[in-house]
Amino acid sequence: MLGTLSRGWGNDGYAANLDYLEEVAKNAATTEGPVLECGSGLTTLLLGMLAGRRGVKTRSLEHSPEWRQRISAVLTKNRIANVEVLNSPLRDYGNFSWYDAPLQDLPDNFRLVVCDGPPGMTKGGRYGLLRLFSVGLTNGAVIVHDDAGRPGEVELLK
Ligand SMILES: C[S@@+](CC[C@H](N)C(=O)[O-])C[C@H]1O[C@@H](n2cnc3c(N)ncnc32)[C@H](O)[C@@H]1O
Repeated sequence: MLGTLSRGWGNDGYAANLDYLEEVAKNAATTEGPVLECGSGLTTLLLGMLAGRRGVKTRSLEHSPEWRQRISAVLTKNRIANVEVLNSPLRDYGNFSWYDAPLQDLPDNFRLVVCDGPPGMTKGGRYGLLRLFSVGLTNGAVIVHDDAGRPGEVELLK
């Protein structure tokens, strides 16, 4: 089913691969939430279908206004509820860049983080998640991190 969904969505080179989709799906189907996503796309739809349907809300940070609009339109068209794609331009924080997220308006008890953004060429990669956001994670929160084998991501995981 995930394979069919993935082929239908396309967007090769950007969309999550099947292994990652499966891991996101497993966690989305069971998490008590709330859910934070970094970088929207096919995974956002999956989170809405598996967590949103159970009343668990996802906030997805998206730096591209055009992409945000596209994902929001697909969510609306397919009546996928409980997902908010937030306009979060990338901001320079000195030695890394990350989303300019409305941190003060977000919950401080995220239980699941789906991390597939910002794009790999961003200064510092995904380092900003833990630098800026660790206070928003509850004890035992799960972070599902794509591209975990890339040198910058290995460093972040360490
Ligand atoms: C790796 S993608 C996130 C993909 C998402 N997790 C999924 O499964 O579809 C990270 C960012 O790339 C950007 N992006 C997605 N598709 C794109 C495309 N076709 N061209 C350019 N940028 C794209 C979006 O801003 C997105 O937040």
